[in-house]
Amino acid sequence: MDKLVINGGKRLTGRIGIGGSKNSVLPILAGTILASDGECIIDNVPNIRDIDAMLKVLKTLGAEVNHDGESHRVIISAKNIANFRAPYELVRQMRASFLVMGPLLGRFGQAEVSLPGGCVLGARPVDLHIKGFQSIGAVVSDKEGYIRATAEKIRGGEAFFDRPSHTGTENIMLAGALGNGITRIVNAACDPEVVDLANFLIRMGARIQGAGSTFIEIEGVERLYGCHYDAMPDRLVAGTYACAVAIAGGELFLENARESDLQMPLMKLRDMGVDVIQMENGLAVSCQNRLKSVDITTFPFPGFPTDLQSCFMALCAVSDGVSNIVETVFENRMGHAMELKRLGADIRVMGDRAVISGVEHLHGASVMASDIRAGAALVVAALGAKGTTEILRAYHIDRGYENIDEALQSVGADIKRLAE
Ligand code: EPU
Repeated sequence: MDKLVINGGKRLTGRIGIGGSKNSVLPILAGTILASDGECIIDNVPNIRDIDAMLKVLKTLGAEVNHDGESHRVIISAKNIANFRAPYELVRQMRASFLVMGPLLGRFGQAEVSLPGGCVLGARPVDLHIKGFQSIGAVVSDKEGYIRATAEKIRGGEAFFDRPSHTGTENIMLAGALGNGITRIVNAACDPEVVDLANFLIRMGARIQGAGSTFIEIEGVERLYGCHYDAMPDRLVAGTYACAVAIAGGELFLENARESDLQMPLMKLRDMGVDVIQMENGLAVSCQNRLKSVDITTFPFPGFPTDLQSCFMALCAVSDGVSNIVETVFENRMGHAMELKRLGADIRVMGDRAVISGVEHLHGASVMASDIRAGAALVVAALGAKGTTEILRAYHIDRGYENIDEALQSVGADIKRLAE
């Protein structure tokens, strides 16, 4: 296991290239299962642990996978898939493996996927996925920790989400793409990654309308084909680096980052006194003064993303004034507050709310990452802290950020990776 050791207080200047989006590439990789003809060539695939986990699942199912990390390209042939079971050993490593259920069901009429286990963010059930599959014609049962779904052919129908589920929307879209009828998703998630998946499926030959809105319509087609696709840039990685320069001070150019994916967090950054300018091929972010406090409530897209809540809490910890954060998406996503307190933050958590009274400076300490974004928040906090911070269990961060230490080093941070 590795740890990250950061000497805070260094200004950041330079350019960071924002790579492909984890939460876009994961469903796209699952979507390659739908191609009965030809290869899918996916570019802009980040070299991170969660992508490796999904590629392992695809190999287990029988797909031929060729991954060239250096060029960030994956080539997949799903022609010979003959196994429809994703085992617990793999699904427990990453919940998003559950995304193979929809395409297996859509193409082969059967799928058996281990029920994802517990999660530090909350219960995270998959009931909405299951209800969705049932409402478009699948028979779903639950046995010995596995969800089994069958359908001679997906007939279509209306999948209604009580609340927008990001991967739930994607799973139903994937299942419906090869159906006999029309699948309609009501109260769909509107995230940019859902749109990216729809664009990929359309390139494969699917007929999908409305992605990016709360109502998506998928008209099933007979076959889908391999294609070439470039995944969208990772808005959460871009948002994290924007927070890094906000806390450390300096000027960063985040190449490929798009304002349209980050409207709400960028609005909050500007409220805090950070300058953000959309340039032709990226975002210029700079900060020279002490941050101002801000109030944030997380919400499904286009609301403030729950995934950036932790990094903003790190900013609020050193802002001038009192900030309030309300987490409405996950019931248990305040774990990073305790670690930020170890760095000297003044945070009071009451259930899904945190009141943060900004202090002048955080100070270095030993802390531990508990999930991807909690870990990212500790990196952000450490960059702005006085002294040395060591962040244990860096593997959580590596699940979602490609070489975060090298990227930050290249813009002036004093950060190194050591064995724990
Ligand atoms: N929910 C249910 N039942 C379901 C599905 C979801 O009750 O069947 C609840 C969840 O428990 C949660 C809420 O609905 O309280 C929203 O969950 P959602 O389904 O939208 O989350 P997800 O699809 O499992 C994706 C991202 C997460 C991100 C959330 C919210 C991927 C692979 N994962 O998860 O990303 O936090 O949407 O935007 O796209 C991360 O990248 O670090 C990460 C955790």
